[in-house]
Amino acid sequence: MNKTTEFINYMISKQKFGDSKLEDYAKEHYVPIVKRDTANLLRILVSATKPKKILEIGTAIGYSGKLMLQASEDSFLTTLEIDYDRYVFAQKTLKKFADRVEFHLCDAGDFLLNCDEKYDFVFLDGPKAQYLSYLPSILNVLNDGAIFVADNVLQEGMTAGEIPTKHKLESTIERMHKFLDIICKSKELQTTILPIGDGLSISIFKSSEKLTNKN
Ligand SMILES: C[S@@+](CC[C@H](N)C(=O)[O-])C[C@H]1O[C@@H](n2cnc3c(N)ncnc32)[C@H](O)[C@@H]1O
Repeated sequence: MNKTTEFINYMISKQKFGDSKLEDYAKEHYVPIVKRDTANLLRILVSATKPKKILEIGTAIGYSGKLMLQASEDSFLTTLEIDYDRYVFAQKTLKKFADRVEFHLCDAGDFLLNCDEKYDFVFLDGPKAQYLSYLPSILNVLNDGAIFVADNVLQEGMTAGEIPTKHKLESTIERMHKFLDIICKSKELQTTILPIGDGLSISIFKSSEKLTNKN
């Protein structure tokens, strides 16, 4: 961790957010959850935009889901998880929000292909190798003006070539490049990529206006 990231983490540690018990559990049981700085930005984004319907791809134990539901009390969360134990765990985590959350034990790719709902906020935090293949389906489920956030897009620095790509991740990194290339070029999205946590892309979807990059 570089000094700037350390400084940012120190500063944001003065704010109370997230569930420290879940963070400890995740660490102890090697469950990947969003990093603290990512969690902080996620809750701020949800709190600022108050999306009616949120889709989360990758529930894990419900850590980020809880953050989002806490950040916006009228939001409804649909969350997808392929692992049975995590799916069950997340239901316990989010028991208090039972009337505002719908859990799906499924393959996210199948869900997306068959989805005819639209969402105001999509948080993509599932299998990194599939971001590219999920993208067309995700664009189909975004409401006009929706926010689309994807975590881990910088892959510890491998995406930008800051560190060499680890063995067997070549194809994932190549696909992540293509994913970022498409969301940055798209006329329907305005996108930024932030070196927060493991890298976060944030896009806003404007279907009707067909945004251009020109002023
Ligand atoms: C990084 S974790 C999600 C962390 C969670 N968003 C959080 O920060 O609290 C990614 C999750 O995606 C799940 N996953 C992997 N492949 C999947 C798939 N094809 N469909 C649905 N979920 C999948 C994994 O089991 C894992 O729990």
